[in-house]
This record gives sequence, structure tokens and C-alpha cells, in this order.
Amino acid sequence: MLSMFPEKFLFGTSTAAHQVEGDNKWNDWWYYEEMGKLPYKSGKACNHWELYREDIELMAELGYNAYRFSIEWSRLFPEEGKFNEDAFNRYREIIELLLEKGITPNVTLHHFTSPLWFMRKGGFLKEENLKYWEGYVDKAAELLKGVKLVATFNEPLVYVTMGYLTAYWPPFIKSPFKSFRVAANLLKAHAIAYELLHGKFQVGIVKHIRVMLPERKGDEKAAQKADNLFNWYFLDAIWSGKYRGAFKTYSVPESDADFIGVNYYTASTVRRSLNPLKMFFEAKDAEIGERRTQMGWSVYPEGVYLALRRASEYGRPLYVTENGIATLDDEWRKEFIIQHLRQVLRAIEDGLDVRGYFYWSLMDNYEWREGFEPRFGLIEVDFETFERRPRGSAYLYGEIARTKKLPG
Ligand code: NOJ
Repeated sequence: MLSMFPEKFLFGTSTAAHQVEGDNKWNDWWYYEEMGKLPYKSGKACNHWELYREDIELMAELGYNAYRFSIEWSRLFPEEGKFNEDAFNRYREIIELLLEKGITPNVTLHHFTSPLWFMRKGGFLKEENLKYWEGYVDKAAELLKGVKLVATFNEPLVYVTMGYLTAYWPPFIKSPFKSFRVAANLLKAHAIAYELLHGKFQVGIVKHIRVMLPERKGDEKAAQKADNLFNWYFLDAIWSGKYRGAFKTYSVPESDADFIGVNYYTASTVRRSLNPLKMFFEAKDAEIGERRTQMGWSVYPEGVYLALRRASEYGRPLYVTENGIATLDDEWRKEFIIQHLRQVLRAIEDGLDVRGYFYWSLMDNYEWREGFEPRFGLIEVDFETFERRPRGSAYLYGEIARTKKLPG
């Protein structure tokens, strides 16, 4: 058993603009929050837009050598054709501070939120809207000078499922057909961004992977179908140019990705169903072990190994771009981190090219529809005073990052 992580391994943390910055007034989420269509308002979130210096200082002190965050498109372009120079400069400052501190930035261009003006035109439902995305990516190329790792989309199929299938998230559209069309357009958008950015950056994509386990004997095929549909067909399409949706196959441009980011949290169990509208299967949160996190999820560390192993088939470098636990029990968080990192080490030992791990999240933040209750942070945030208090797990993770070794 390998006892150490490779010398250049990245030990980072992850956040997303809308979840930490605060006052993201120009995007679709903010709009629906204000309309009362979402249960919680992001408001000032962690006030990171003002406290970024302190936050970067804290990461450096804790010993983390990487940081994944996202750029809020709607800050750069709050209205159609209107560019916000101040927001551009603020992101520049964040990037420069990180580089100065020796913290490798890993930047995501789209993490669930989009400018309201873009969504009013139909967002990613309409292919002709990709010209606006292209304009944003073009500006991002200028903004990201000095950055190496750039991801186009965060969890594209979570975005699609929540926004267009279950209608649990903005824009609250419930249409299986539209959902796959949006997914196909996201693949086109990825290809556009890859074309524009590759050569200047390593351009990847961040995919959520939920391990799919058969619920009973006889459900194996259903589990495999759910696995392909939610986890892999989207990635397959980047190279094949054919996106297999549930109802038809879409032609998309053949493209590439210089790395794959894997977001892994938990597993689902799948049973077969006779309902064609449900695509002949039903999935629910797996029930493994006794305990559930604040999200209602089971902890299944082996899943991260399984996800990495399958993702390695694309032959690209891999990063665990998110993995974390929502709990008030920080001892449990420590255990969670060690157990999952042990599985990452196992993947490296098997010869997989895994280059980094980013814990979700640096600090407690706005967990979308679930608001501020789930506590994913290594750092506790007081949402009244915005005070940051590193938890024990923050120091433990720093120790791992510095020594490149797991305790025990
Ligand atoms: C994945 C998402 O990318 C992130 O925004 C979210 O907060 C975490 N999972 C936890 O649910």
C-alpha cells in the first residue's frame, strides 16, 4: 500500500461563486430567491466578495496548495452587452493573490447560475444563445491569465436534471425532452470553450458521479442504465460526438477535455420500473450503514475509487474536484476525509493518473435549495458576523496536505 501522495499532488478546497460571494444580484437564482420561489435567499452568503483576502490568507496558513472556485458570468456581464470592469479586476486580484501564495487555482466557468438576461432568452435551451456564452468565454480567456486549470461546466447533468427534469431548481421547467436538449447544448458549449481556450489553458470539465447500485437481484441492468445515463454518456459524447439521451441520440461536435474533474459524494440504489417516462428505472439515495449526513446521504468511500477507475478510461488526468460531508460532527468529517483520501491513494497505487483532491467546501456556504443549514465547511462561518473559525478538520487536512501522508 502506497503511504504517500505524489510530490505534486494538489490538496485543495472547492467553492462556487453564488454559494460564497454574496450579492450576486444579476443571476437567475437571485431573481427567484427574491421572488420567493426558492426557500432561502443567498443574500450576503459568506461575504467572500469582500473577505476574499482573508479567505486566501487562511487557506495559505492552513497549508492548502490549490483552490477551486467559479467565475460568476453575470458579474462580468450583468446586462446584455454590458461589461463590468470592476468585477473583472476583482477576479484578477483573487487569481494573483492565489498565485502569490503558491496556491494553484482551478477555475470553473459555469457553476449552476447564469445571467438573468441570458436565461430570459431561453438560456442553454436555445442553440443560437451559445454566441453569448462564446462572448463570455472570450473575456474569460483574458481574465484567467496565469491560471492552468479551467473547467467549462460544473456538474452539467445536475444542472439539467434539477432545472429541466425535476424542476426543483431554476428555471423550474419540467420536460424530459427539453432536459436532454439542454444537455446536448451544454456539450456544444463545452466544445466552443475548448476550442477557444485550449492551448492557453488545460481545459477540462467537472462531472458528478453517483455510484449506482442495484437495489435487489434482477436490478443490475437498471442500475447499469442509470449509471450510463447520469454518469458516463455525457462524457462519452465529448469524444464520440454522439450524445445518447434517453429518447434519442444527439449529434454534437467532437471535442476534447484535457482533464476530468470528478465530484463524488454518495451512491444511489436503482430498481427497474415499467414506466417509460421514468426511463424504466427508479433511483433513490442508497442506504448504507447507520448514519446519514445533513443532506440525507450515506457515506460510501469506496465509491470515489470506483468513480475514478471508470473515469480513467478516457485516458485523461483526473482530479477529485469535489468530495465532502455536511455534518456538525467534525470528528465524522475528519474520518470522512481520511477514508476518501485512502481510496484516492488506492487509485493512484493502481496506476491511475489522479493529480489532486479538492474538499467541498473551504467553508460553510449557501447550499442551494437547502440554504445555510448543511455545514460542509472545513471552516465554520457565522452568517451574522461572517466570522471564520477553522474546524479541527481544517487543521487535519492541512497536516495531510503538508506531509502528503494520511495519519495512522
Ligand atoms: C455539488 C455542487 O457542485 C455544489 O454546488 C454543492 O454545494 C455540493 N455538490 C454539495 O451538495
